[in-house]
Amino acid sequence: MTKNMVILGSTGSIGLQALDVVRAHSEELRVIALSAYHRVDQLIPLIQEFQPRYVAVRSLDQAKLVRAHCPSVEVGFGDEALLTASSLSEADLLLNALVGAAGIRPTLQALDASIDVALANKETLVAAGDLVLAKANENKARMIPVDSEHSAILQCLQGSSTEEIEKLIVTASGGPFRRTSLQELKNVTINDALAHPTWTMGSKITIDSATLMNKGLEVIEAHLLFGIPYDRIQVLVHPQSIVHSMVQFNDGAILAQMGTPDMRIPIQYALFGASGRLHSPWQRLDFSRISEFTFESPDFVKFPALQLAYDCGMAKKTFPAVMNAANEVAVHAFLDGQIGYLDIVDIVRRVVEDHHAESTFGIEEVFAADQFARDDALQLITKRGTKA
Ligand SMILES: NC(=O)c1ccc[n+]([C@@H]2O[C@H](COP(=O)([O-])OP(=O)(O)OC[C@H]3O[C@@H](n4cnc5c(N)ncnc54)[C@H](OP(=O)(O)O)[C@@H]3O)[C@@H](O)[C@H]2O)c1
Repeated sequence: MTKNMVILGSTGSIGLQALDVVRAHSEELRVIALSAYHRVDQLIPLIQEFQPRYVAVRSLDQAKLVRAHCPSVEVGFGDEALLTASSLSEADLLLNALVGAAGIRPTLQALDASIDVALANKETLVAAGDLVLAKANENKARMIPVDSEHSAILQCLQGSSTEEIEKLIVTASGGPFRRTSLQELKNVTINDALAHPTWTMGSKITIDSATLMNKGLEVIEAHLLFGIPYDRIQVLVHPQSIVHSMVQFNDGAILAQMGTPDMRIPIQYALFGASGRLHSPWQRLDFSRISEFTFESPDFVKFPALQLAYDCGMAKKTFPAVMNAANEVAVHAFLDGQIGYLDIVDIVRRVVEDHHAESTFGIEEVFAADQFARDDALQLITKRGTKA
């Protein structure tokens, strides 16, 4: 049966790779809606190729441009359009490949409409995980991880229950600064931080990988998705990015999921996993060509984002949302050349310290905390800019 898919963030790294998966399985997958934010020029050829019935863009001007090139597609703009795309009545699955907290409302909208969500947008789970998972449960919709680490854990768990897990081992490439000293980190450039050794990704997640905040976000995601306490989630640096994560069971046995560092494999698993493994045309891992296969503990001193994420995850309430929002702002400021690499996590930590969580915890508190964090982070960035 053909699956009707909505792809939010279709012009990004995950969105484009998801469309590759659709090309490889055009009998099984049909794209019914796409979205773009800045790169509308890249969206237009995608509309012409995949013929969705609806597209969501950022502004009225962009909508006019798309209508001029693609007169048969319905075009919406602004936040409302993302919500419309997320709850189309004929949708079977929403692939959320947006970046940042912008992914929260569309995820909730899809779940409200009982549409399964394949989630690449990790910031949604980090900021509003308990609420999102409760909504999925309430509406009998599935939340399927796309991130390679969580996909790996899910694959290792086939045939086992979470009660059988002793610990989760989440692997990390270590990023571009694994061998850079703390002293040298003071002077790294934007291009240094964007030069990821194994994965090609959007700029925000690439910087998160350089600070190891990405691994911190993934630890929180793993805790939420698999219900394992933080003290039983271990991060292990594996620079070759072949083992995508592992599960250690109660009897001491460990299962690992391996493959080339190619996001199309976990994306395809998210789209079809439950209905069996289909052929994929992507490159295979050749063990005879692997010269190194190593593991080491992460350096928590050089990469303080990792401990901060564990702490915010354990503090629960709105702390993860605050950490996430402050990080988004700080990463953008770094990419804009306003602050240095080491300032990123320092600013996030300061914002988290400034936060006082409410005792009640609902979606409005999450958005209020997110706004507080963005304002506070911006103030700190402005102060640093003035001092410089
Ligand atoms: N890339 C990977 O390999 C990878 C792996 C695992 C998890 N993830 C996660 O997947 C998500 C997407 O990552 P990515 O690397 O694909 O990012 P990306 O390349 O930057 O793409 C982000 C997409 O979201 C759109 N977008 C950005 N800001 C938006 C906003 N405020 N409102 C609506 N749309 C917006 C972008 O549109 P325009 O391009 O048109 O501006 C683009 O289509 C992130 O949460 C990331 O952590 C990524």
